[in-house]
Amino acid sequence: MRRSVVELCVEDHRGDGKILAEWLENKTTVNFEDWIASDRHVALVAEREGAIVGFDLMNLAGVIALLYVSPDARFSGVSKALLSALEEEALNAGIRTMKLESSVTALRFYRSAGYSLEGDATHGFGLTCCYPMFRQIGRSE
Ligand SMILES: CC(C)(COP(=O)(O)OP(=O)(O)OC[C@H]1O[C@@H](n2cnc3c(N)ncnc32)[C@H](O)[C@@H]1OP(=O)(O)O)[C@@H](O)C(=O)NCCC(=O)NCCS
Repeated sequence: MRRSVVELCVEDHRGDGKILAEWLENKTTVNFEDWIASDRHVALVAEREGAIVGFDLMNLAGVIALLYVSPDARFSGVSKALLSALEEEALNAGIRTMKLESSVTALRFYRSAGYSLEGDATHGFGLTCCYPMFRQIGRSE
């Protein structure tokens, strides 16, 4: 997850150490253990040949908080698979609207997965921006 931020989200942090420090501040092992263990979250990993190559985390309101691929596995279908598995979990939990705040890096990815912008960009870390997005899931009645 930390490598994914540093190595892949360059369009967002532009190599700025202050932004990176803020972004990574709460991405600690202890916090991850808490988030994963919480029954208010759904957390998934993607595995390839016994190694974890991706991770995502959603709360039970359908808000995707984290979705990160290992730089070693970029553009090989990991984030697509994780997103689709999370949407499946959401459907099973009765959630009908997925929400998230996209990085600049992931905007094209989410658009291509059917997500739409919802309002203006919000403040991220330092000078970075987050783009609120949503997608209705499931069949309409
Ligand atoms: C962009 C990113 C999300 C794509 O995920 P991935 O696991 O590497 O790639 P996948 O194979 O699952 O998805 C491919 C999709 O990525 C998008 N994509 C392809 N090339 C891209 C590029 N150069 N830049 C941005 N997105 C690209 C396309 O939408 C593509 O789907 P399509 O070919 O059907 O249009 C990922 O590489 C990344 O940079 N993650 C960084 C972490 C991050 O920003 N997470 C989101 C936090 S909100």
